[in-house]
Amino acid sequence: MLHPAVMTDTFQIKALLLPFDKGELELPDQAFLMRAEPAEPLIEWRSRLICEQSFKPLYDRLLAEGYRAVPRLEGRYGAGLILLTKHKAENRANIARAWTLLAPGGLLVCSGANAIGAASVEKDVDRALGLEGHLSKHQARTFWLRRGQDDVLPGVLAEWLAAAEPKPVEETGLIARVGCFSSDHVDTGSRLLAECFPEAMAGRVADLGGGWGYLSARLLQEFPAITGLDIYEAEALALDDARINVRDGRATFHWLDVASGLPDVAPYDWIVSNPPFHEAKKADPALGRAFITSAWRSIRRRGKFLLVANQHLPYEAELRRRFREVELLTVRDGFKVYLSTNRHDR
Ligand SMILES: C[S@@+](CC[C@H](N)C(=O)[O-])C[C@H]1O[C@@H](n2cnc3c(N)ncnc32)[C@H](O)[C@@H]1O
Repeated sequence: MLHPAVMTDTFQIKALLLPFDKGELELPDQAFLMRAEPAEPLIEWRSRLICEQSFKPLYDRLLAEGYRAVPRLEGRYGAGLILLTKHKAENRANIARAWTLLAPGGLLVCSGANAIGAASVEKDVDRALGLEGHLSKHQARTFWLRRGQDDVLPGVLAEWLAAAEPKPVEETGLIARVGCFSSDHVDTGSRLLAECFPEAMAGRVADLGGGWGYLSARLLQEFPAITGLDIYEAEALALDDARINVRDGRATFHWLDVASGLPDVAPYDWIVSNPPFHEAKKADPALGRAFITSAWRSIRRRGKFLLVANQHLPYEAELRRRFREVELLTVRDGFKVYLSTNRHDR
């Protein structure tokens, strides 16, 4: 599954803004933008937008480029904009949540590329709520509607919200919500990594890109000698699920872009990671390499780093460059697990 925070293309953003650019609609002084990311066509509208972005690297970029950003919207607005994604349930939930954020009479504008199935979302919304207008340009669909004056949430929107609530993941006893990485099953790579856990693990441990907490939950169940576990994850929604899944006083949760380094804390005895391998719709080994560098910088001398990665990803050279010993523990089901031992003094 693609990471939910794949970059939206500029055309989709242009299509979203088209009714305003053409003067068909008016954007009030304060409007929200869901799944926001910085983009050239948005600059003109920047001062009016409150941008929602739960993925930390994009959130950081929004702030750095002068946007107002929040991980989760609250309050009431006269207008809202949504960039649709390829996940139907996520779009429906965003539209339902947007509805609750609109003041009576508020305007909602949604846009999505044809390639991600925006036409079918448009049909759904038309059937459920009725559209005020729509247009098709830049290989994308843009449609808009207005909230009525009453404050009652239509039943179908309550259903759309419920469908995006966290759900049990297989027989794990854990939950995850749609849109997060591998939300309906345990990832094959993570399962393989857990099979490679050592007989004993103790001390301070970190899980880089911890997602909804599968590896962290297993670590704390299996190793009572772990004294503290820091879970680092960029997607705030996944981290919320991890907080539910990993109910153990030894766990601490950090909303962080691991690629930009870990906080300056005491070095770890063990680090585990199933790093992300997608950015902007394409495989990006640089991301995994940045995770390796962050792990290496934050591990103690003779500390151990357990990493799983898709077999085709070229991480071994980076591991060997950083760590004293690199052992390939297993290769199976398209994945490799490495155990690396640190060589540097701190
Ligand atoms: C391959 S998944 C593994 C998730 C989880 N450990 C598991 O076993 O299911 C990688 C995770 O890294 C997160 N991620 C992506 N980019 C990140 C970044 N720059 N910093 C921290 N986490 C990131 C993703 O949201 C995703 O949850």
